[in-house]
Amino acid sequence: MILSSDSGMTSNARHLPDIRLRLAESSDLDALCDIENRSFEVDRLTRRAFKRFVGSETARLTVAEAGKDGTVVGYALVIFRRNVALARLYSIAVLPDHRGQGIGRALIAQAEELSLDFGTPIIRLEVSQKNTDAIRLFTENGYREFDLYPDYYPDHSNALRMEKVLVPNAMHLPSPIHFYHQTLPFTCGPAALMMAMNALDGDIELDRSLEIALWREATTIFMTSGQGGCGPLGLALAAYKRGFEAEVLSSRDGPLFVDTVRKPQNREVVELVHYDFARQALDAGIAVTTGPFGIAEIEERTKRGKMALVLISQYRIYGDKIPHWVVVSGFDERFVYVSDPDIGEDHEPYTGSDCLSVPILRQEFDLMARYGRDKLQAAVFIDKKAG
Ligand SMILES: CC(C)(COP(=O)(O)OP(=O)(O)OC[C@H]1O[C@@H](n2cnc3c(N)ncnc32)[C@H](O)[C@@H]1OP(=O)(O)O)[C@@H](O)C(=O)NCCC(=O)NCCS
Repeated sequence: MILSSDSGMTSNARHLPDIRLRLAESSDLDALCDIENRSFEVDRLTRRAFKRFVGSETARLTVAEAGKDGTVVGYALVIFRRNVALARLYSIAVLPDHRGQGIGRALIAQAEELSLDFGTPIIRLEVSQKNTDAIRLFTENGYREFDLYPDYYPDHSNALRMEKVLVPNAMHLPSPIHFYHQTLPFTCGPAALMMAMNALDGDIELDRSLEIALWREATTIFMTSGQGGCGPLGLALAAYKRGFEAEVLSSRDGPLFVDTVRKPQNREVVELVHYDFARQALDAGIAVTTGPFGIAEIEERTKRGKMALVLISQYRIYGDKIPHWVVVSGFDERFVYVSDPDIGEDHEPYTGSDCLSVPILRQEFDLMARYGRDKLQAAVFIDKKAG
């Protein structure tokens, strides 16, 4: 595919040299490694990494060819995560003797076009605070600094985190949420609850002892295999015990996921836990509404200042059919902003703040927030207690 260097170019582009942009192929690997070696001292992408990104479904590696012989003089790599409206401009480089001619700018514009094609309207990147050339280029191209990682690179320099919203109405809402990464595979519920409680009350400490205490209080004990996760009633009760108002919406009456538990004696335990939670919730005056609900019900409550924990299926994110709790921190006309306590298996290059207030297209979220064949839905809303 030959992409014109004019595509997506801004009017600032001065006399662009004769360059063509296209997706990288395996035959470009030598040239890519050469650009990498001549552009970076440390943290270089390896040949193997480049090879993995060529033709990857979740990455777009664009090369810039210059001159009549089509020498590859630059590249930009943008990577995606399925169903997450956030792309990462992972690396960009131009051969030293071709810099300052607008090739970097053209590569950025192309990376942005490809991100929009993929359905990701926000691009984030990290750049060393020392790399003033690159920072200037990104700033001039509309990227804004939103965070800083101290002592991030091998040379101890700080990383600036920069972001550009490519679609004007996809506003990134300011969120009061601090990220907490679940430290165990079955503690998404506690981690989500901790983020939600902390957003309402900054005195709530985000630490492992709370994570484990919440899990012990809210777990249904058994799941398909291994440890049980936390159900909506258990989470609502745990919040209530810590001085929050809680409300539960669930599409189903009775215990959730009990049918995924194989052994009958374990199913019995899940049921016992559920009915005990239900009785405690009733005693505590926690409102529990049974029946299907939609984004509108969640949005209406968050607009009233409540924090929402919503059960989603990780299937649409990671391909695993695992029920998973996330925090919903905001809405706009296009997106639902979700904070996900699970960074995912590919910890690199995604990090904590990539999981904070991540925009997900409304229709995608609507599909995610229904688990399994039965389209099970559950949400817990918490709020500060009145008075
Ligand atoms: C950062 C990098 C990719 C920029 O590539 P580039 O091709 O030089 O970028 P551009 O030419 O588009 O823009 C660079 C400068 O040239 C200017 N420029 C653009 N077109 C021009 C033209 N036709 N004539 C003269 N100058 C031009 C730009 O305005 C910009 O100048 P300014 O920053 O003073 O305003 C390149 O410096 C590089 O490879 N650095 C090493 C790797 C690196 O640090 N990557 C980023 C890490 S995330």
